[in-house]
Amino acid sequence: MSLTLAIETSCDETAVALFDAKNKKLIKHLVSSQVNLHSPFGGVVPELSAREHTKNITPLLEALFRETPYSWKDLNFVSFTLTPGLILSLVVGVGVAKIVAHSLGIPLVPVHHLEGHIYSVFLSQRVEYPFIALIVSGGHTELYLVKEFGRYQLLGKTLDDSVGEAFDKVARLLGFPYPGGPYIDKLAQLGKPSIKFPHPKVSGKYNFSFSGLKTAVLNFIKRNPNYPKEDIAASFQKTVADILLDKTLKALRNLRIRRLVVVGGVAANSELRKRFKELGEKDIEIFFPKMEFTSDNAAMIAYAGSLRFERGRYAPLDINALPNYPLEKFGLDWT
Ligand code: KG4
Ligand code: ZN
Repeated sequence: MSLTLAIETSCDETAVALFDAKNKKLIKHLVSSQVNLHSPFGGVVPELSAREHTKNITPLLEALFRETPYSWKDLNFVSFTLTPGLILSLVVGVGVAKIVAHSLGIPLVPVHHLEGHIYSVFLSQRVEYPFIALIVSGGHTELYLVKEFGRYQLLGKTLDDSVGEAFDKVARLLGFPYPGGPYIDKLAQLGKPSIKFPHPKVSGKYNFSFSGLKTAVLNFIKRNPNYPKEDIAASFQKTVADILLDKTLKALRNLRIRRLVVVGGVAANSELRKRFKELGEKDIEIFFPKMEFTSDNAAMIAYAGSLRFERGRYAPLDINALPNYPLEKFGLDWT
């Protein structure tokens, strides 16, 4: 067995995992969410996030080893999120990863957070290459062609808000706390998509834009203060799904790719899952991660870390966190 410890602290979840890298088997993962801490502020407060990671990381690591039959000396390498994310938060995980690797004399394996999200699907099923990855999270909305592990071609991305941000902002307009995506999802199930919100005109074949949609919802609420909230939620959610499906399908068709993975926090959305699964009934294979692995976690970092480890992609001990390194440049020879 080849055992990795994985650490993820890029945003508002402190997460650790133990993973059998040889057999690609998750042993255990733990996530400590900071949602309640940030909720009153309507979004993630970077400095609070960093302090909370610092507070939680050691107890979380202790719990991980207490609840499994392994100890520090069983570790063969450390995987950790290097980029992208909130810099103050990233450095907590990077610092801990380095100290563990240094004190045990084992390799340090950096992982790109978005690469982790893509490989969250692989925790439950293998996907043949090439495939297209639609990443929909709080921080990102991007479409990639994945040619093989470590070869990512950016096809399109949002030019303004991410899908998660759009969900959170519309949820706020409807009176829900941060993060609002799950509230919209639930409320929309009670409503009808009776409002036609406009689709944005965006430059670039596969780019997205969601800030206009958010403004359209705001204007609609101002003009129609008594309109049923569940119908607004259902209409907004349907428009988001229409936009994501339209661009993703275009990319699949034009590039003649028949496999799609949909990952990130918003991949938990029930309408999105339903609509993409319908697409899967045609000639395209659709893969979602298990619900547990849609939001930030260290299991996905461990999976991607194990693939980098197999290829000998270690980092020197003086490596530093990077706030925003593009995935398409994070190839196997990126340093
Ligand atoms: O991937 P994630 O946990 O964090 C980032 O890496 O950004 O994504 C968080 C985002 C939030 O915007 C949250 O509102 C959204 O995912 N989200 C959802 C759902 N569950 C979480 N959005 C829509 N429907 C959901 N069921
Ligand atoms: Zn994420």
